Amino acid sequence: MDSLSEPIAEHVDPLRALTLETLRRRTSMKWHTYPEDVLPLWVAELDVPLAEPIIQAVTDAVRLGDTGYAAGSEYATALADFAAERWGWHSLAVERTAIVPDVMQGVVEMLKLVTGPGDRVVVNSPVYPPFYMFLKHMDRQVVEAPLGADHRIDLDVLADTFRTATAAGGRVALLLCSPHNPTGTVHTEAELAAVAGLAAEYGVRVVADEIHAPLAPPDRFVPYLSVPGTADGLSLMSASKGWNLAGLKAALAIAGPDAAEELAALPEEVSHGPSHVGVIAHTAALRDGVGWLDALLAGLAANRRLLADLLAEHLPAVRYTPAESTYLAWLDCRDLGLGDHPAAYFLDRAKVALTCGADFGTGGAGHARLNLGTHPDIVTDAIRRMAAAL
Ligand SMILES: Cc1ncc(COP(=O)(O)O)c(C=O)c1O
Repeated sequence: MDSLSEPIAEHVDPLRALTLETLRRRTSMKWHTYPEDVLPLWVAELDVPLAEPIIQAVTDAVRLGDTGYAAGSEYATALADFAAERWGWHSLAVERTAIVPDVMQGVVEMLKLVTGPGDRVVVNSPVYPPFYMFLKHMDRQVVEAPLGADHRIDLDVLADTFRTATAAGGRVALLLCSPHNPTGTVHTEAELAAVAGLAAEYGVRVVADEIHAPLAPPDRFVPYLSVPGTADGLSLMSASKGWNLAGLKAALAIAGPDAAEELAALPEEVSHGPSHVGVIAHTAALRDGVGWLDALLAGLAANRRLLADLLAEHLPAVRYTPAESTYLAWLDCRDLGLGDHPAAYFLDRAKVALTCGADFGTGGAGHARLNLGTHPDIVTDAIRRMAAAL
């Protein structure tokens, strides 16, 4: 069944809606980069049809020629309502938000507010590779505070890292990934409070990248700025990952009360970057796409179970802890004896494209990240191919 022309019902798993043949017609990075014989389970795009309210809103805008510059606060209002309803977070103040072009540009702009060139930014490796790329590009020094073996923030390591980074001089920030890419770890309120406590103790500013928040179970995700002690924190949120809107660029920066003045000092030109149609799409997602999102989360939970079963049967040497959130699976392939870059092996021999674990920094070598946001048949085919290639 391939429902490209017909709207899918809200409760139907969108991961099962599109065939491989249809997906191969896509021209975005995931489907464009590798030849036809490769199954692409790498970059964080979802193999789903868009939620119907998004299709409607974007189609209406295009028909109306409503394709000018972004304006207004509907996106922030939609996010505030979503946050209140989904996470019980009632203090997301629309006046303490700013529209930014996308999450990574927002991260850059927030870090420019709280650090200067040459300053240090702490990250919890292994972590989303563009963190390293963007920080280098903006002339910040990356300092790693690796996660523990349990994929959780190691507070002792973080404290040591804050101590040495601040002792070296300059301003220091923590770029927190919450939920965490690639492990899918959802930080608890106690962990986030401890992070905030350490940040206050050492004078470190926290910028939280919360792009994967909608992909966590609603009763598990804790917004960083909802945690006591985070008043000078900054956060980035977006509908981009939850609803597959990376090509419709827009995101929101949110300031805690004590960071409001800094956010207000964001240069006007930053607001010229977001796409107006992107803002319309993200707003529709948050306001009217919740049923679709819940169906997606159910499908992702099923895909995680499927992956665990497939690995147990076909690739028992690969260690995998099903994540609580995101559609990313972090595969520990070290016992396969494929060296530091198992993704290169699987691309070459199995024609399965994964993301190279080493690119995620310390703790990533010998790992690969697999994108579960696809049809279960594609997941099954990929694991069978990988097993057959060994
Ligand atoms: C943690 C994290 N931050 C940011 C991004 C990119 O977001 P954007 O396209 O809005 O810059 C991603 C994309 O996968 C991500 O995983």
